[in-house]
Formats: sequence, structure tokens, C-alpha cells
Amino acid sequence: MKLLSGTASEGLSADIADVLDMPLTDVTITRFRDQEIFVRINENVRGEDIFLIQSTSAPANDHLMELLIMMDALLRASAARVTAVIPYFGYARQDRKVGGRTPITAKLVANLISRAGADRVLTLDLHAGQIQGFFDIPTDNLFGQPVFEADIRAEYSRKDLKDIMFISPDTGGVVRARALAKKFEADIAIIDKRRPKAGESEVMNIIGDVTGRNCIILDDIIDSGGTLCKAADALMAQGAKQVSAYITHGVLSDPAVDNVNKSALKEVVITDTIMQPQKVKDCTKIREVSVARLLGEAIRRIANAESVSKLFD
Ligand code: R5P
Repeated sequence: MKLLSGTASEGLSADIADVLDMPLTDVTITRFRDQEIFVRINENVRGEDIFLIQSTSAPANDHLMELLIMMDALLRASAARVTAVIPYFGYARQDRKVGGRTPITAKLVANLISRAGADRVLTLDLHAGQIQGFFDIPTDNLFGQPVFEADIRAEYSRKDLKDIMFISPDTGGVVRARALAKKFEADIAIIDKRRPKAGESEVMNIIGDVTGRNCIILDDIIDSGGTLCKAADALMAQGAKQVSAYITHGVLSDPAVDNVNKSALKEVVITDTIMQPQKVKDCTKIREVSVARLLGEAIRRIANAESVSKLFD
């Protein structure tokens, strides 16, 4: 078995390698003058079980192409099996046609990854669980939930836990909110976002009584932060005591950090599926928790043909 990292996931890959107590395989990734990508794997991988770690985060096109080129190199070097470990699977939000003559990029990217030579995919909190079905190869979609649960238990006092309430920022996230709420025997509330008419501003209705509650919003992605900050405002306006958020993938496109800083949010906890720039690291309202142990354990189980679902029992 060998572990390889693309340039999008160097920090997380090093942490996964520590968890598994094995080195990362030496790879050279450079650019030609015209920015085409060149890859050389500097060790023999013939007959090896390969785990290639690369998030398709921004710049998504470059990181995706790098992943495909690395897989091509592995295939041509006679690797026995390649698992594409994609902590953040980008392009997933276009998972259905939103209108006439529009693409389904989640399916297109799944096809590209399979065609480039992946035998399996390991990913985390896909934007929609059904995207697993876009791959015709075995796909394990892990959940960040156990990492969030452990962090909440460590960070919240017993008194704070009594008033805790999990919030789904849209109807699509109810299953995620319910699953974590069950662990804490807590209530959930749902935000129902509506635009009464095209051109009219969005109305946020909250289903559930949040008065005096420590609200925790759960979501898979924070991009501009718009969804989250507006949800926090709506919850505070309805009498919530405080609002924090646990979000798996910190996409955090500009001006997300400014939006979070100015918002009513007490804290936003993200995972390390996406490497963050200094601006995010310096933001006192954003904290990172690691999924390295979770991914490392899943890799170990896949390599040993053990159950991965057991991780969530
Ligand atoms: C939407 O379906 C996702 O789950 C996120 O809520 C969304 O992508 C967040 O985007 P933004 O931070 O730009 O509002």
C-alpha cells in the first residue's frame, strides 16, 4: 500500500500519513511554461494498492486536472488498484439540471475520475448522498459527524449542552441535523428559505422554537457565507441565545471571512478537507478540526478489506 498526495491536500495528507505511520510516496508535480501539469512518481508503484489524496477545491479546474494526470501516471506505472481519496469533492453542487441546456458537472467529474483510472473513491460529506451513484465504481462517502460530535462534547459545558439545538439551514440538510441531534438527545429546527416572487428578497422562516437555545447550524459547505450569516441573523431575531456552526468543507470564497467576522455567529468550525489561506487561519471566529484520523482509519480499513461503515456505528 502507498499514499500519495496532490498539491491541494498536502497538509491533510501529511497528517493522514502520520495517522497511518507511513511515508508519503515521493512525487514531482511541476508546470510547463504554458501551465500544463507534469507529474512523475519517483518510486516504484507496480502492483501496489494506491491511495491518492487530492481535494478538488479552488482552483478546482487545476486540482481536478492534477488528480486526473496523477491517476494516469499511476495507471501507466502498473499500480494494482487506485483509490481516489477526495476529501472535498468539488463541482458537486451541479448535481441536476437546473434548467434547459445546463450541465450536471457532478456526473461529468465522476466520469472523468473513473475514466482516468480510479478503481474506488473515498470522500467525505458529499453535497448530496446520491452522487455516490454517479460513480460505477465502489464509493465510500464518510460523514464528518463523529468529528463534530467529539468537538461539541469537548467544547460545550454540561449546562450549554442542555440548551443545545441543531439547525438545518435548508430542507436538504434535515437528515444531517437529525443524526447529530440524536447523539445529544437534542431538538432540531429547520430554516425554510423562500423567495416569494422572483426579484423579491428572500424570507427565512424558522420551523421550531429557538428561544433561549444554543443553536448549532450544520451544513456541508460554507462558500460565500451568505446562507450561514443570514440564517444566524434569522435565529437571533427569533430569540436564540447564541448561534455557532459546524460546516464540513470551508470553501470560503471572498468575502466569506469578512461576512463571518461581521455576522452574529459566535464561531464557525470547519474541517481540514480544504487547505486554508492565512486570512482564514487569522480569523478568530473560524476554527478548524481535523478529519485526518477518520480518513486514515477508513484508508486502513479499505486496504485490509474491513468494514468502513463500522466507523459510524
Ligand atoms: C447549499 O445547498 C449548500 O449546502 C450550502 O448551504 C451553500 O453552498 C453555501 O453557500 P454560501 O456560503 O455561498 O451561501
